[in-house]
Order: sequence, then C-alpha cells, then structure tokens
Amino acid sequence: MGGGHVKKALITGITGQDGSYLAEFLIAQGYVVHGIIRRSSSFNTQRIRHIYQDPHEDRPRLVLHYGDSLDSESLMRVLHKVQPDEVYNLGAQSHVRVSFDLPTYTADVVYLGTVRLLEALRTLDRPVRFYQASSSEMYGGVTTEALDESSPLVPRSPYAVAKVAAYYQTINHRQAYAMFACNGVLFNHESPRRGETFVTRKITRGLAQIVAGREQYLYLGNLAARRDWGFAGDYVEAMWRMLQHDVADDYVVATGETHSVQEFLDYCAGLVGLDSAACVRVDPIYFRPTEVDHLLGNPAKALRVLGWRPRTTFRQLAAMMLAADLDSVGVDPRRFEALHGFIPDPEPR
Ligand code: NAP
Ligand code: GDD
Repeated sequence: MGGGHVKKALITGITGQDGSYLAEFLIAQGYVVHGIIRRSSSFNTQRIRHIYQDPHEDRPRLVLHYGDSLDSESLMRVLHKVQPDEVYNLGAQSHVRVSFDLPTYTADVVYLGTVRLLEALRTLDRPVRFYQASSSEMYGGVTTEALDESSPLVPRSPYAVAKVAAYYQTINHRQAYAMFACNGVLFNHESPRRGETFVTRKITRGLAQIVAGREQYLYLGNLAARRDWGFAGDYVEAMWRMLQHDVADDYVVATGETHSVQEFLDYCAGLVGLDSAACVRVDPIYFRPTEVDHLLGNPAKALRVLGWRPRTTFRQLAAMMLAADLDSVGVDPRRFEALHGFIPDPEPR
C-alpha cells in the first residue's frame, strides 16, 4: 500500500464465517479493520476473538461498532465515523432453509439491508469501494452446466430472491452513481468455522460426535443435492482482489467441481472408519419446499482478470473440517491415519 496511507475496511457480518477470515486477511495486508456487530444476549464474537485479543498489536487492528442492517441510522453513523476506503457487505440471514420460515425478515436484512448501506455510502464525501456478497443460490440449480457471470438467475428460495434483488441494486448503484460496487457471486464455501446448521459442518460435527460416543445417529435431509464446495479462507481473497481491480465488475468464485451431499458424507465417514448408511437417518424436516439440486461454477473470469484461483481441494476441505470437529469433542484426529496432515490450529470454531 503506497503513500503511507493505512487503508480502512468496514465489514458487515464480521462475526460470521467469512467475516472472520476476511478480517484476518485484510489485517495481514496492513488494513485497519472495522466491523459491525449486533447486540446479542450472549457473546457472538467467538470467531474473531483471537484477532481482537492479540497481545502483540501496537495499534488497533480491529475496531467493532454496534449496528444492524435493519437500522439505517446505525449504518450511517458507523460509516461517517469510520470513513472507510472499502466496505464489504457480508451481513445476512444466510440460511436458505430458514428463509422459508422467515421470508419477510430475510428480505429486510438481505435486500433492504443492502439498499440501506448503498444509500448511506452515497452520503459520504469520499470514494468508497463496495463489495456485495452475492450467491450461487441465485442461479436456482436448474441446470447441470457450469454457471458463469452470464448465466440466468432463477431464484428458488426467499433468500435467493432477496440476494437477486441486492445483486441488481448493487449494479444499479454502480451504473446510476458511478459507484465502485462489485458483486462476488460465491459458490458454497466452508471451513471449520462454518455455522453448525449448514450441511458440511453438520456432517463433520455429527460424525465427530458419533466417534466420541456422544450420539448414535446424524439426521440429514436431501443427500442427492450437489454443490461446488470451496474453502472460505481461499474465497475471501477473491473478495479483496475484486476491490483492488481498476474497474468495478461482477465475478463468479467457485472451484469448478461439483459433489453431492452423499459424496461429502461418505468421504468423511470413510476417513474415520464409519459406515454412513448405518449412522445417518434421513429426516424430511430438512427438505426444502423448493430445492436447488445442482450447482457448479465456472471461475474462469476471476482467474483471468483477478488472478484468483482456489487452493484447497474438496478432500482437503473435508479432512480439515473433520479434524477440527474431532479435536473439539476431545478425540485426537491422529487416531485416523488419513487425518495426520490436518491437525487443527488452536483457532476459533
Ligand atoms: P454467516 O456465517 O451466517 O454470517 C452472517 C453474518 O451476518 C453474521 O456476522 C451475522 O451476525 C450477520 N448478520 C445477520 N443478521 C444481521 C443484521 N440484521 N445486521 C447485521 N449483520 C447481520 O454467513 P457466511 O457464510 O459468513 O456468509 C457471508 C455472506 O456471504 C452472507 O451474506 C451470505 O449470504 C453470503 N454467501 C455465503 C456463501 C457461503 O457458502 N458461505 C456463499 C455465497 C454467499 P451474528 O453473528 O450476530 O448472527
Ligand atoms: N442445512 C442442511 N441441513 N442442508 C442439508 C441437510 C441438512 O440436514 N441435508 C441435506 N442438505 C442439503 C440442502 O437441501 C442443500 O441442497 C445442500 O444440502 C446444501 O445446504 P446448506 O449447507 O444449508 O447450503 P445452501 O447451499 O443451502 O446455502 C449455502 O450456500 C449458498 C451459496 O450457494 C449458504 O451458505 C448460503 O448463504 C449461500 O448463499
């Protein structure tokens, strides 16, 4: 970073999976990171506690502010106080299944929350670069072809409808006000910090509990669904690269490989010597009114224009998550030969 200017980034959703990896990444690039957190009756900062508490820091690297995507005044206040160079809008009700139960709330946070933030940005007297967390869920999974930036959007959940609206609002602000605003259309990305109710983490955590003798069965929904799963730690770099480019644009971020839930389950079960058929029960409660059957992304544009590529394979991702969940239930992952290379760091999960 030239000219001695220390860049400031503001992240909504900093307490989430991606927010925590992005904060780490930006701090490593020399940024001061500001994050918006919600008031909660218990701690919601587990994923960023290790950054916040670093005893070696000589200046604050991470500053947290109370705010909410539902509350324009709070967004306005934080933006004017921080005066950021870059804003990453990751805050969302991000669970697709839950969005069928909470469609209005999901639309409010995901869509109107983005409008509120974009409009608040327009009141600043400085150019700000804006990243919108768009999603492969917007494609609807209606084709087995690899999806890219020109593929049609066919949203099949209240979450996806809200993300499509936010995606177009971001483009509209770019066109109408010449804002530097980018959509990252990210395919599913996971990590040991993934929320426990998303399927990959549910599987690695559930298998770890079975290995530890705490549970007998793992209850899942549609095992036939296919996803293009990558590692969250790789994907946050793509977000940053979008905002460093000369021109604001939209990019697909994916691995270019697709696997079924059943494959992820079988691979993980095999790593710890379990038979998935014996320990998994299908419970229709986890089925969705409309399902996204098949997602496969084509990240060629991100590779060509941003020089970004995923580094973690499907198998490495599964093993990394499983090792971390075994460790957290007191089972040494080294008990399993295939996990020897995946001993978890003492990092938050
Ligand atoms: P996540 O772990 O569920 O984190 C969501 C974050 O949003 C949390 O920090 C949460 O705060 C915050 N949030 C929720 N409601 C909010 C509100 N009303 N105001 C402000 N913040 C609020 O999600 P993630 O996996 O990190 O995903 C980050 C973003 O990328 C989301 O927008 C998601 O929809 C999108 N996305 C994710 C994927 C993926 O595969 N992970 C793929 C494509 C797009 P609390 O901690 O207080 O709940
Ligand atoms: N959550 C969950 N729980 N999903 C299950 C289960 C289960 O017990 N059993 C099967 N599945 C199937 C779902 O039906 C879906 O087809 C697939 O596993 C993946 O579900 P999730 O892990 O919940 O992720 P998602 O694809 O619906 O949404 C995630 O990825 C999107 C990007 O495509 C979220 O992170 C979204 O926020 C993100 O936009």
